[in-house]
Amino acid sequence: MSRPAMRVVSGIQPTGGLHLGNLLGAILRWVRMQEKTECLFFLADLHALTIDVEPGQLQSNVREMAAALIASGIDPAKSTLFAQSAVSQHAELAWLLQCTARVGWLNRMTQFKDKSGKNKEGASVGLYTYPVLQAADVLLYRATHVPVGEDQKQHIELARDIALKFDNDYDSELFIPPEPYIGGGTAARVMSLRDGKSKMSKSDPSEMTRIHLTDSDDEIAQKIRKAKTDPEPLPDDPAGLDARPEAKNLLGIMAALQDRSIEAVLGDYAGQGFGQFKPALAEALVAMIGPLRSRLEQLRADPAELDRILDSGAARARELAAPTLAEAYKVVGLTR
Ligand code: TRP
Repeated sequence: MSRPAMRVVSGIQPTGGLHLGNLLGAILRWVRMQEKTECLFFLADLHALTIDVEPGQLQSNVREMAAALIASGIDPAKSTLFAQSAVSQHAELAWLLQCTARVGWLNRMTQFKDKSGKNKEGASVGLYTYPVLQAADVLLYRATHVPVGEDQKQHIELARDIALKFDNDYDSELFIPPEPYIGGGTAARVMSLRDGKSKMSKSDPSEMTRIHLTDSDDEIAQKIRKAKTDPEPLPDDPAGLDARPEAKNLLGIMAALQDRSIEAVLGDYAGQGFGQFKPALAEALVAMIGPLRSRLEQLRADPAELDRILDSGAARARELAAPTLAEAYKVVGLTR
């Protein structure tokens, strides 16, 4: 099988909509990458079954997230965009890889420990083997690079280990051990607007901690106005933000919006307080999110068109996935 020079694969769980953390931390990098290389992006709806989600909600979450990705700049003419469950090879390869991955490897996965909490015995097996399905997602397409956040790096390491063990055990050269991809411009780790030490998250009970793509201009301005800060003026050196997580977060957001370094942003605001900085930040956010929100509204109005986009993405993905799965079946001895 020919080896792609560079192929990017990444997925996101369809939790409903996108928030600023997804956008600045991941999606805008995807958008920049699609200009440079072959990219496949998918809605990880099989993974979404590991969290409690209403069956009636899943399909609309997939459409909503697909619309948000397209509104944010993922161009289905450039990138292959699809729902994971529409390409059955993901689940099939995941089974073969579960027979390669070791229990000891999965026991080291910190995300499972975090998500299962105190109730390990009561957690689903799917939550436990989640990283193996994730390995299948990328190995299936022989991805060379996987753009992910810090919290997913361990899963990409696992995918590498699985790829190497599989090819070693079966004396094959089927899989490409993927690299986590760090490039693609400024990626911000966006934190909660109320607590600079915890990540901006869909699951935080307070709406004031995050900004959604669907927030109105007024809501955005209000959330920034109320964002937690401190009374000190802004320093001229990024090191001066180290003990000020909330300040650092807001500066990081501005830097990501402008695709500049925090240092460059501090060049404009050193010595000023948040009374000056916050209105500028709100304005920059409204300027970026406003147009995305209008595009999102247009896309939502035509679910049939969204389904067509996802169907054609899935057809393309299946074409790429089928030869890898066929070869994997052959290598393990399941040739028909
Ligand atoms: N686990 C990833 C997350 O929560 C989502 C995901 C599923 C993914 N499959 C993937 C990311 C494959 C990269 C590649 O963010």
